[in-house]
Amino acid sequence: MNQIENVLHENRHFPPPPEFQAKARLSSEAAYQRMYRESIDQPDAFWGRIARELPWIEPFQKVLDWSNAPFAKWFVGGKLNVSAVCLDQHAYGVRAQKPAIIWEGEPGDSRTLSYGELHLEVCRFANVLKRRGLKKGDRAAIYMPMIPEAAIAMLACARIGVAHSVVFGGFSAQALRERIEDGACTAVITADGSFRRGSVLALKPQVDEAVKGLDAVHTVFVVRRAKNPIEWSKTRDVWVHEACAEASPECTPEPMDSEDLLFLLYTSGSTGRPKGIVHTTGGYIVGSYLSTQYVFDLREDDVYWCTADVGWVTGHSYIVYGPLANGATVVMYEGAPNTPHPGRMWEIVDKHKVTIFYTAPTAIRAFMKWGDEWPAKYSLATLRLLGTVGEPINPEAWIWYHKQIGHERCPIVDTWWQTETGSIMITPLPGVTSTTPGSATRPFFGVDAAVVDEAGKELGPNEGGYLVLRRPWPSMLRGIWGDEQRYRDNYWSKFKTMYFAGDGARRDEHGYLWILGRVDDVINVSGHRLSTMEVESALVSHAKVCEAAVVGRPDALTGQAICAFVTVDTGLEPDDRLKQELMEHVAKEIGKLARPAEIRFTDMLPKTRSGKIMRRLLRDIAAGIETVGDTSTLEDFSVLARLRDNEE
Ligand code: PRX
Repeated sequence: MNQIENVLHENRHFPPPPEFQAKARLSSEAAYQRMYRESIDQPDAFWGRIARELPWIEPFQKVLDWSNAPFAKWFVGGKLNVSAVCLDQHAYGVRAQKPAIIWEGEPGDSRTLSYGELHLEVCRFANVLKRRGLKKGDRAAIYMPMIPEAAIAMLACARIGVAHSVVFGGFSAQALRERIEDGACTAVITADGSFRRGSVLALKPQVDEAVKGLDAVHTVFVVRRAKNPIEWSKTRDVWVHEACAEASPECTPEPMDSEDLLFLLYTSGSTGRPKGIVHTTGGYIVGSYLSTQYVFDLREDDVYWCTADVGWVTGHSYIVYGPLANGATVVMYEGAPNTPHPGRMWEIVDKHKVTIFYTAPTAIRAFMKWGDEWPAKYSLATLRLLGTVGEPINPEAWIWYHKQIGHERCPIVDTWWQTETGSIMITPLPGVTSTTPGSATRPFFGVDAAVVDEAGKELGPNEGGYLVLRRPWPSMLRGIWGDEQRYRDNYWSKFKTMYFAGDGARRDEHGYLWILGRVDDVINVSGHRLSTMEVESALVSHAKVCEAAVVGRPDALTGQAICAFVTVDTGLEPDDRLKQELMEHVAKEIGKLARPAEIRFTDMLPKTRSGKIMRRLLRDIAAGIETVGDTSTLEDFSVLARLRDNEE
């Protein structure tokens, strides 16, 4: 575990500010302990009670069935509909007029949808989907910009029992196609384009390319946003605004079994194809509902803004499902954080009187770089709570966030979780936990987290090891789409009865958890996990490339940056033009996010005798540090020396 051991020694502690604590949902260690203990010692009573706060269509008979581990069933026999949880219970009650979504477009246009209005829009959209033949058990891909229709589309699918597979709008046509095919989606929901960095980013052409020749995709639903010219198939394409205008605003929610599929969301694995993470209905909504309430200390009058994209799990659980299940007011923003100026986020906080702000460390590092003068121009007085997610936050960024954004008044919740966990697993509770920069602190309710060694034995204080979860939780993944074995191998083979998250961690002497990063090769660029294998196969798909190995190297802004080691065909003299060409190639194949920051040509890659590339050696070279690890299995020692000589 040495390579992920961190050397951070952070002793600053920030107790909850008294004004915050006075009004918090949970405000004492004793209350937290009571609830946490119950969640661990009597999980059925705990989760049963929380789940019954939601409007079930038919009650569940059993809280958990773990007899077929690692395939969990939660709230067995219960039926409910997630869109009804998020909408109907509010729209038909006192929250009918309450803003559900306050949306801000990049050019400065904005739109507010009350719970009543959102409910109508979702019902209309659901009827449009139905009219094109979509029904319970189908799957639809959603490839959308950050506009309210992204949330509306997700909820409309949920309403009629169609599982959605949201693909990040920044992914290439090829990446979209792979995901459509893997999930066997029969429809795609997209927009003509969106506004990004001051210009129009077209989306529909990517969809056209992605579905070319895919006969299974019978319909492409297109939301009109940017009015950019697009090609049109009369038989396949449907304008959403036209179809919705004729659709009925009434749509009975489909009663869904607690374990029916709610969505697929693809995430990178360390090897092989992207994994379609399976999330089901009852457990997922209970997990996102409870965590939103307690982690963000949600109150009726909060204006809550999570800056993630709906293409990532954070956007699913903490823009759409968790907040709406709680009847919260959510802010959604279409554009880039520095368009038209680097103060854009703070301008939105000021304009919409945001009280809770949840973002990623990589964004915070960008804000720092742009300068303190930008947040200083706006009133941030309404903010009362800040959050981060996606990667470990470096203490410097934490302190900046605390001072420049939180004005030393707002607690910061550093939340650790994954696409696979569905909801927040390790986090401070803002009215209770004394925070310390860089630590996600303690497990959330129902979460039994431990740090273990290779043999699965729990480690002592400050010993770096593997982070595991020792019992099932409601919002856990139910599998990898179409690949039961891969699910077992990826998460349950290392420690059999414990879920292995893939991350390293240590627990300090106060019992606080410190996440040390991934123990495998996945690269985290700006909080997004990218598989080395996907980037490598994109590089190798270029005609001039023989072989490629990709690693992350530390980057002050994006957390990690991609460094690619590439061998080219013999006889070819690689030059800077080829470097550029390869960078563009990867961007086109996978998306801009995956574009390597650096490409180094080499005539050989370090490999083990069995032919595996030794990425950890390359990581050291990319980071410019001396290799300290074991090189005994390295096939050709001279390779390392030659790679170093090629350093720029
Ligand atoms: O390595 C951890 C890191 O992000 C991984 C999960 O990535 P993804 O499934 O894309 O979900 C991101 C949003 C939930 C984790 O295995 N990670 C996430 N949050 C933190 C983190 N690392 C340290 N601290 C965090 N707060």
